[in-house]
Amino acid sequence: MNRATELFTELDRGNGTPLRAQLEHSVCDAIAGGGLRPGDRLPASRLLAEAAGVSRGVVSEAYAQLAAEGWIEIRRGRAPVVRAEAVAAPLPRRGRAEAAGPSSPARPRLDLTATAPDLARFPRRAWMAGTRRALAAMPDAALDYADPRGDEELRTVLAAYLVRVCGVAAAPERVVVTGGYTQGLWLACRALARRGARRVAVEDPSLDDSRATIRSAGLELVGVPVDGDGARIDPRLDADAFLVTPAHQFPTGALLSPERRRALLAWAAEGDRHVLEDDYDSEYAYDSPPVRTLQRLAPERVIYLGTASKTLAPALRMGWMAAPAELVEPIAAERWAVDSGGPAIAARAFAAMLAAGEVDRHIRRTRREYHLRRDRLVAALRERLPDCRVEGQSGGLHLLLRLPPGADEDAAVAALEQRRIRIRGLAGYRLAALEEAGAAGSPAGDGPALVVGYGRLPLASIDAVADALRDAIGAAG
Ligand SMILES: Cc1ncc(COP(=O)(O)O)c(C=O)c1O
Repeated sequence: MNRATELFTELDRGNGTPLRAQLEHSVCDAIAGGGLRPGDRLPASRLLAEAAGVSRGVVSEAYAQLAAEGWIEIRRGRAPVVRAEAVAAPLPRRGRAEAAGPSSPARPRLDLTATAPDLARFPRRAWMAGTRRALAAMPDAALDYADPRGDEELRTVLAAYLVRVCGVAAAPERVVVTGGYTQGLWLACRALARRGARRVAVEDPSLDDSRATIRSAGLELVGVPVDGDGARIDPRLDADAFLVTPAHQFPTGALLSPERRRALLAWAAEGDRHVLEDDYDSEYAYDSPPVRTLQRLAPERVIYLGTASKTLAPALRMGWMAAPAELVEPIAAERWAVDSGGPAIAARAFAAMLAAGEVDRHIRRTRREYHLRRDRLVAALRERLPDCRVEGQSGGLHLLLRLPPGADEDAAVAALEQRRIRIRGLAGYRLAALEEAGAAGSPAGDGPALVVGYGRLPLASIDAVADALRDAIGAAG
């Protein structure tokens, strides 16, 4: 018996899970855990069936399912191999991806939560080369404590990148490098709180992690409903700042309409308030060029927040902001107080990659790939789920799938979880979800929907995912 065969032969006949499913799970776990690498051969179905004491049909069916999901490739007359793009779906540690919850049966095969990009595409070589170049060029003095706004070289190239790629009006003095968007949001909230701010308006629905960040900075939340034109702006809104995702509302995908953009900036100007602009995924715009940022229209009112988590990887914890002049020093002071500045070697490596055009190249390449996945996914959903509506698909790495009225969103999520497909429903992103935790069904409002992330969805798995969604939604109707 070879090593690969051993990996899959410990079947438990007493635990109620069909043997075929057990075989599938063990192959997925071996790939996800690194026990099997892309290109590795799996045992031929006859050999595995003998070793595991099951019929050959059981193994063939398991292999067919794994092939449909994009994990392996079946080759005529030869042993199946692990696909190069079989993506390990690591268990996320963060609230923004806690979809499966404590009752999650096992590691997901496919992670459709709207979080990370395709981590298999992280440009490891370019990052290593950037680090090497940075370390070789860094004088000893650059290893000391430094400007809490972040490394000057990085701020300079970042400012140019922000102008070029994101449409931000940024000079290097206004750029602060942060530990991801999340830290930027926290620093901005702390700086605003010190100036007397008490309440931050947030979109409802929105990213639950951001709400926790705002609270941890000592500020209160006010929820503002979202519709097809983004957040509904009420000029009488009683808050000191407004956190918005104007280019691609998270999670509905709506674009903030021009009227709402004007109303939001007017609200901010009238009351000496601030807008926190979360521009988390505008690098990926597929149907038209990215819209102008709010920051560009009102750089003294808007704190612009960006991140490398969608384009490169969340593990970098690399983010940035372009701040109004009067807030730069207060924000830098908060950064100094919390961790005496950021990691300089990673900053220089990133600066080297930006300067060499590696980041632009990576974005161009991945944009093509995600665009293709978006097109295929939308087509598959429209074909298989004619009663559902696809929305918010113009950019980014996720879309919203509106379910027929009366469909049970939670039941659909649970049914997909049973198939080890991790996904979140819209209800979980609502403010009300916090208060209604434990209540049955979806909160009232916009109706049932699923937030479908395709950043980690291989092309080869799209049809199988659309089938799984159809079955789950049909069963939950
Ligand atoms: C709405 C939104 N903003 C920002 C981010 C990025 O956060 P960070 O840069 O802290 O990883 C994410 C990532 O999931 C997101 O969904």
